[in-house]
Amino acid sequence: MIQEHAAPAGLALDYTPEVARATAAVAARVRAVIPPLEWPLHAPYVAAIADWKRRRNAVVLAHNYQTPEIFHGVADFTGDSLALAQFGARTEAAVIVLAGVHFMAETAKILSPGKTVLIPDPRAGCSLAASITAADIRLLRQRYPGVPVVSYVNTSAEVKAESDVCCTSANAVAVVESLGAPRVIFLPDEYLGRYVAGQTAVEVILWRGHCEVHERFTAAELREFRAGHPGIHVLAHPECPPEVLAEADFVGSTAAMIRHVGEARPRRVVMVTECSMSDNVAVEFPDVEFVRPCALCPHMKRITLPKILHALEAMEHRVEVDPAVAARAREALARMLAVGRRESGR
Ligand code: 13P
Ligand code: SF4
Repeated sequence: MIQEHAAPAGLALDYTPEVARATAAVAARVRAVIPPLEWPLHAPYVAAIADWKRRRNAVVLAHNYQTPEIFHGVADFTGDSLALAQFGARTEAAVIVLAGVHFMAETAKILSPGKTVLIPDPRAGCSLAASITAADIRLLRQRYPGVPVVSYVNTSAEVKAESDVCCTSANAVAVVESLGAPRVIFLPDEYLGRYVAGQTAVEVILWRGHCEVHERFTAAELREFRAGHPGIHVLAHPECPPEVLAEADFVGSTAAMIRHVGEARPRRVVMVTECSMSDNVAVEFPDVEFVRPCALCPHMKRITLPKILHALEAMEHRVEVDPAVAARAREALARMLAVGRRESGR
């Protein structure tokens, strides 16, 4: 059972003048998205986590969907799934705390088997990762002999181990084309697979997995954003259904969306993705107005500052992957990392 830890033993989590001073710079940076009145609730954790990171020689990696107090307050590195995997493979720290979902922590462990990888709440899953098993892939291989399997990183280590190569939303088209095959099995995200199929001549065999957050957006909702907010620039994640993507001005990974806002500097933006993204990005671009539809990923939201602090203090929950499975999964990840980031966003 997971417990919510308010104040780890031996640590006073008060908003003292020292804590206020130590966290003042972050508080000032995030004041547009975390009201100053709320900051005293987060600040003691931000200060205590900084202390424990030093003691443990640890880094906190946070996905773009983490809440602003995590993203801006305690993360040493932030990014999309690809960036987190790349960073996890090269960090010198002894301990990685993955503020994200379980498949991201497993990916870090596969790429850094000698490091301690902690996930603050092991129940942080993903509907895509839950939609397919290694046995499903073995059946697909029987049905389509010789057809290579491309797996989205949003999968378990066992599924990666059965795959030829992994991909993220930042390189899916390039990875599919890197195989030089006339057709591929692409799993588990049906909508990302359809998006890829629309951008390549390679035939794509799909699996019917969906992201429970992105599948809920509708084209009608996007049209309402446009009607209600003249001139709005609509950015969507490729895990959204095809009719939603057809209404968007730009489609790309979470990192590509952030980059696009920085380059295009639209006056008004809606990011059709998980809600915390807009809060995190708004901190960087105070001149851009963000219209914020609320679509929470319940798995990402299991990660909180108290749980990150507890992870560092108690050195749990350790992510372990069977070495034989990890060795095969690492090959699929290494092929993806060799392709790198090659966004095909529009
Ligand atoms: P990105 O790789 O674009 O960050 O997406 C990961 C994810 O889980 C989106 O729902
Ligand atoms: Fe999985 Fe969707 Fe949550 Fe991303 S947003 S972790 S794809 S359930």
